[in-house]
Amino acid sequence: MNSKIQIIEKPEFISWDEIHDVLWKAHEQNRQKGIVMQLPALSAAELQKHVDGGKMFVAMDGNKVVGTLALIIKEGKQWYNKGRYGYVCLGAVLPDYSGKGVFRLLYDYVEKEALRLKLTVLTRDTNEKNSRMLKISKKEGYHFVAYRACRDHFNIVRAKWLNECPYSLWYIKFRFYISKIYMKTRFKMVPEKGRIKRFGI
Ligand SMILES: CC(C)(COP(=O)(O)OP(=O)(O)OC[C@H]1O[C@@H](n2cnc3c(N)ncnc32)[C@H](O)[C@@H]1OP(=O)(O)O)[C@@H](O)C(=O)NCCC(=O)NCCS
Repeated sequence: MNSKIQIIEKPEFISWDEIHDVLWKAHEQNRQKGIVMQLPALSAAELQKHVDGGKMFVAMDGNKVVGTLALIIKEGKQWYNKGRYGYVCLGAVLPDYSGKGVFRLLYDYVEKEALRLKLTVLTRDTNEKNSRMLKISKKEGYHFVAYRACRDHFNIVRAKWLNECPYSLWYIKFRFYISKIYMKTRFKMVPEKGRIKRFGI
């Protein structure tokens, strides 16, 4: 299977509608499990705007898009992403191709590109209930660094230092733990309503 999959940067002839379709289909199982995420719900035009200035990569089986992953260069202000860093997002593989190493090919390609662009930190985030993605990113060498309260769910932010990690493991775990306690104390998620401030502040 892998040998016929090719990873390329999205060429002009692949439309943002196709990218949207792959994301939407890949997230079907998540939706069924109640694992909602904001990016897969964006329209094709919104996706294009989201990646504007970044790089959209696709996994191709012949002329069919079977997977997606984007790398966007940003300026960060948090302890884990201060300065120039890479934000990796829109990871998706069509259900028929899942579990066959397609995401691994995509991710390895994106990480090589990040090194070529001299990025030293990459971050990702996903719904705290997306255990598959969280497990994959741990295997890829990511650390859980922050907790985030989105509109209707909590996200876990992960970071990977591409050269040497400047922090000790206990420090990273401590910062994540503090961030989680802070977010869970400040917000709660209420069915139908989403994020609610616990103390009105
Ligand atoms: C999550 C998703 C992208 C994974 O794609 P995939 O092509 O099925 O993943 P792969 O086949 O490459 O990975 C399979 C295995 O290799 C591991 N793996 C993948 N890339 C790896 C890497 N670079 N290093 C080490 N291990 C890796 C994974 O942990 C996984 O292990 P498992 O068999 O124990 O589960 C895909 O299932 C999907 O689209 N899910 C729905 C959408 C979604 O949740 N996207 C993430 C949004 S943040």
